[in-house]
Amino acid sequence: MIQLPQFPQSYWTTSVEQPEFPKLTSDMDADVVIVGAGITGITAGYLLSKEGKKVVILEAGRILHGTTGHTTAKITAQHDLIYDELIHHFGEDKARLYYEANREALLFIRKTVEVEGIICDLADEDAYIYTQSEDTIAKLEKERRAYEKLGIAGKLTDHIDLPIAIQSALVMNNQAQFNPVLYLMALTDRIIRSNSQVFENTTAVKVEEGDCPVVVTESGNRITCQHVISASHFPFLDWKGFYFARMHAERSYVLGIRIGQEYNGGMYLSADQPKRSIRVVREGKEPLILVGGEGHKAGQSNCTIKHYETLQSFATSVFDVKEIAYRWSTQDLVTLDKLPYVGQINARTDNIFVATGYRKWGMTNGTVAAHLLKNRVLGIKDRYQDLFDPSRLHADPDIKSFVSENLNVAKELISGKLETVYRSPNSVAVGEGALVLINGKRAGAYRDPDDQLHLVDTTCTHMGCETNWNDGDRTWDCPCHGSRFSYTGEVIEGPAKKPLVKIEFAPEYEA
Ligand code: FES
Repeated sequence: MIQLPQFPQSYWTTSVEQPEFPKLTSDMDADVVIVGAGITGITAGYLLSKEGKKVVILEAGRILHGTTGHTTAKITAQHDLIYDELIHHFGEDKARLYYEANREALLFIRKTVEVEGIICDLADEDAYIYTQSEDTIAKLEKERRAYEKLGIAGKLTDHIDLPIAIQSALVMNNQAQFNPVLYLMALTDRIIRSNSQVFENTTAVKVEEGDCPVVVTESGNRITCQHVISASHFPFLDWKGFYFARMHAERSYVLGIRIGQEYNGGMYLSADQPKRSIRVVREGKEPLILVGGEGHKAGQSNCTIKHYETLQSFATSVFDVKEIAYRWSTQDLVTLDKLPYVGQINARTDNIFVATGYRKWGMTNGTVAAHLLKNRVLGIKDRYQDLFDPSRLHADPDIKSFVSENLNVAKELISGKLETVYRSPNSVAVGEGALVLINGKRAGAYRDPDDQLHLVDTTCTHMGCETNWNDGDRTWDCPCHGSRFSYTGEVIEGPAKKPLVKIEFAPEYEA
């Protein structure tokens, strides 16, 4: 039996040696402060630096180690089955705009790679959505008709270049894939060669509003600027935008496998549940196949390692798997109407912007957002501005989704408090995490490989839901709005800003 890697590690972040950037230790001025160094923040920084703006990018951890470093890095406008749904909800014109925005993003990445001479494994690939179920053929046909109405080049086929028995597949030709870390490191290099700067391990905690907003960091340093862009996956400040109530977080999983057979190309996604995503990485001596899927609402899985095991079974059923070299998971945000929120963080503040909610399609949507926000900073009306306006609200689907998402949060809030199965702290084995009782109170326990027990109060510091242990990644995950915490309680993903409260361990805590 081939073993899963013991610890999660993304291929993208481990295969590329990244330079380190300093922590901000002084006050400064800038034209634009960008919080978050993933594809949106870095692309926006690149575009604004080229316009002569002095940009400061702040990243709470290492650059490109968030969602961008854990993607499957498909650059495509084929975002699952979406165009028929968009036509239904918003009409043909808006659905076409969404396609065009993402198509332009693909063309921009291609052109930038060429003009800047970037080596990032960029390759043209066709994108496929396939089904193995007769029941889904009609959905693919509807989507094909949507392509036709919107002028999208695509067609149905009954053959794909994978050993999977399919009923039908919808292909969008001439899409692409790349190594996002190599691409964005090159853009970062162009940013710091201009009059701009990048800081790592620098957490922005506050913005003082005004004509010249001031971004304040955790260590108290102040950056006075003209515009602020929040590109930190979950907005680093909610700013009365109620983003936590208008998005939900989804967790999904990826395996990087070596196989003993040829891979003829193509980027694949199943239309059926459970979702399966497949693409190849051709860097290095042997191709690496990325097999993804198993998405679920963040914090709402009892056993996350089983998702890797299920992906492993699927991979073995399709490929001659020789090795599982990598495993990692990622978290994506989905808005009420499935379109990203990009624009003013709220209706009354015209110099603080946000970009979030890419629904797993961040390579193109992040690039679209960077262009839109560059135009907002420069005072240029962008043709996609209204489509992605974060203040938009449609009765259908927004209200329906809002009600259902927030009912789900209420259910998780209550059911988390009713948990009754607790362990004794001393029964928690090395490498294991569990709920325990400490002096009669619920606590989260994890015993590390050095036999040290880490205890935290599992109550999420965002709005008080109870976090659940994620055994695949060794984190405490909140089922309500997707905050994640390390086993020592540090915030890995928001909306929570404060760490879980640590509980000191002493033998007398034994229940
Ligand atoms: Fe909102 Fe935990 S993320 S309560």
